[in-house]
Amino acid sequence: MAAFTPQQLGQAVSETLATRTSIRLEEVSTVYEGERRPAIRNVNLTLATKELVYVVGPNASGKTTLLETINGLLPIYQGRISVFGLDVATRGRLVRREIGYVPQDFMVEPGEPYTALDVVMMGRYGRIGVLNNPTERDRESVVEAMTLLEIDQLAQRPMGKLSGGQQQKVMLARALAKEPKILLLDEPFSNLDPASRETIPLLISRLHEEKELTTLIVTHDVHGILEACRRVVVMNNGLIVADDVPEKALEKGGAQS
Ligand SMILES: Nc1ncnc2c1ncn2[C@@H]1O[C@H](COP(=O)(O)OP(=O)(O)OP(=O)(O)O)[C@@H](O)[C@H]1O
Ligand SMILES: [Mg+2]
Repeated sequence: MAAFTPQQLGQAVSETLATRTSIRLEEVSTVYEGERRPAIRNVNLTLATKELVYVVGPNASGKTTLLETINGLLPIYQGRISVFGLDVATRGRLVRREIGYVPQDFMVEPGEPYTALDVVMMGRYGRIGVLNNPTERDRESVVEAMTLLEIDQLAQRPMGKLSGGQQQKVMLARALAKEPKILLLDEPFSNLDPASRETIPLLISRLHEEKELTTLIVTHDVHGILEACRRVVVMNNGLIVADDVPEKALEKGGAQS
């Protein structure tokens, strides 16, 4: 077999990495408008395609900032982020089409007129386009996501009249209905009752496997994650202080959640 020249080898390695890497942050720092201190600093993080990673850390450690930076919702002050090889700084809109995001603080006004069904259907908007009507495929995705989260019976209820846990399930269904390649979930289980806290993380893990989703989940529930994944990132004070298998990461990170 002909030997690679160093240049050819470098090229082959880059190509392999490019196809296997879904999210890559290189020395990324994010500064909020009007602030001087970066909320995350010099973050290096690579997620392979189909990887499931939990992110833990105390309040204000930068977890939400990390997700919103990956999503291209916050301007990067320094460094580079690519998603499936696309530069998030310049191709953010394209990148966001492939991401199902459940934000931590989705503010729902009590008088919010949108029904649960409307909100889940919003997950399809990027695919439907402004001028088109939903197709059968759009309807199927919405029904499937709502059935999986067992919120089909809430379809016609206004979002503002649902409980916090029900709203959280609607937001998860919206992210799944989008049929994304990446899931970014920010404390998606925080309002759920004990029964749903058992079943919904398992559901997410199963969908992650079946649909080969790259999944990043922020949580404060460190006990629940030992069995749930093979990799945990611990943040503290804007830095990644550990990135390892769950037991080691929590030990190194001082279980700082
Ligand atoms: N919109 C904002 N403007 C200015 N500073 C912000 C803003 N949002 C967050 N910060 C700051 O950035 C830092 C990281 O906040 P972030 O929300 O990422 O923390 P977190 O780890 O998600 O915390 P929590 O566990 O409470 O959700 C904090 O010091 C916070 O005060
Ligand atoms: Mg947060």
